[in-house]
Amino acid sequence: MQIPSARRVLLALLPAVLVCALGHDAGAGETREVNVYSYRQPYLIDPLFKKFTEATGIRVNVIFAEKGLIERMAAEGRNSPADLLLTVDVGNLMQAKEAGVGQVVHSQALEKEIPAAYRDSEGIWWGLTRRARVVYASKDRVKLDAITYEELADPKWRGKICIRSGQHVYNVALIASMIAAHGEAETETWLKGLKANLARKPAGDDRMQVKGVYSGECDLAVGNTYYMGAMLKNDKEPEQKEWANSVNMLFPNTNDRGTHVNISGAVLAKNAPNKDNALKLMEFLASDEGQEMYADVNNEYPVKEGVPWSPLVKSWGPFKADPISLNEIAALRKKASELVDKVGFDDGPSS
Ligand SMILES: [Fe+2]
Repeated sequence: MQIPSARRVLLALLPAVLVCALGHDAGAGETREVNVYSYRQPYLIDPLFKKFTEATGIRVNVIFAEKGLIERMAAEGRNSPADLLLTVDVGNLMQAKEAGVGQVVHSQALEKEIPAAYRDSEGIWWGLTRRARVVYASKDRVKLDAITYEELADPKWRGKICIRSGQHVYNVALIASMIAAHGEAETETWLKGLKANLARKPAGDDRMQVKGVYSGECDLAVGNTYYMGAMLKNDKEPEQKEWANSVNMLFPNTNDRGTHVNISGAVLAKNAPNKDNALKLMEFLASDEGQEMYADVNNEYPVKEGVPWSPLVKSWGPFKADPISLNEIAALRKKASELVDKVGFDDGPSS
């Protein structure tokens, strides 16, 4: 089929139009735009960006993708329109740092608002929200009000635990926190014990593990806190509310070092054409107002002390967060990932 010629021209122009729409600063004075590359879903960030635009007059252009944004920034190099990268987990934030797509930020406001444990010691990545990695326990079959990560390797849970891939960034960071607490050898033994306790081969995301408890395949599941909110509020798939209502949320290690916490965060792009506006956006996201809104929209915890938690998040109760710096967790990620392979964790319980 022949494409009408006017349409062909339009199609040919499209990439250029998109780049123009992303507000490149031509160097002639201040722009009123900022370009965000986001791994976070638009519905999570749009309300915040709307508020930011109302307050500052700076328009926020967003490119959302589930994969490949860091690689894209690296490939675009000096021509990249990206000003700010938004992503989750210290593992992905470190990937951006190691790919060289970020730049060091010096901001007294950010240093004041964001605790040192939740930002890069060299100033490349900055945590903006927190999530805890908890144990979801069957309301019917598990009568417990406290648990530790260590206890997940207890043979009494043989065949009872569901968890996603050990190589997923969320679990790599959790295992890194175990190495920090106990050393590599003890963590290897623990990981073998946890593998032996799995109900099935690791597969699916955190939500699928809770579904496994609901369906009776397992009694305990490991997952991040905000999935509880995501399931409870899911009107598109209301059956998820039943999954959520079939479990209690236990914050592990509340009586010793505390529960493992990770972050979502931001990286200022190395070649940010609208650097000042990007900094303003980062500072807005770290402000009391930005923190409260950002945490609320995805049922997460603010990184800043003293910012109120949303009513739903508050209903899960207070917990003690492992105070370890995510810089330390990041440094142990490689060892953690090697242990996952070494014990054949993702092969599941029977091998
Ligand atoms: Fe997630």
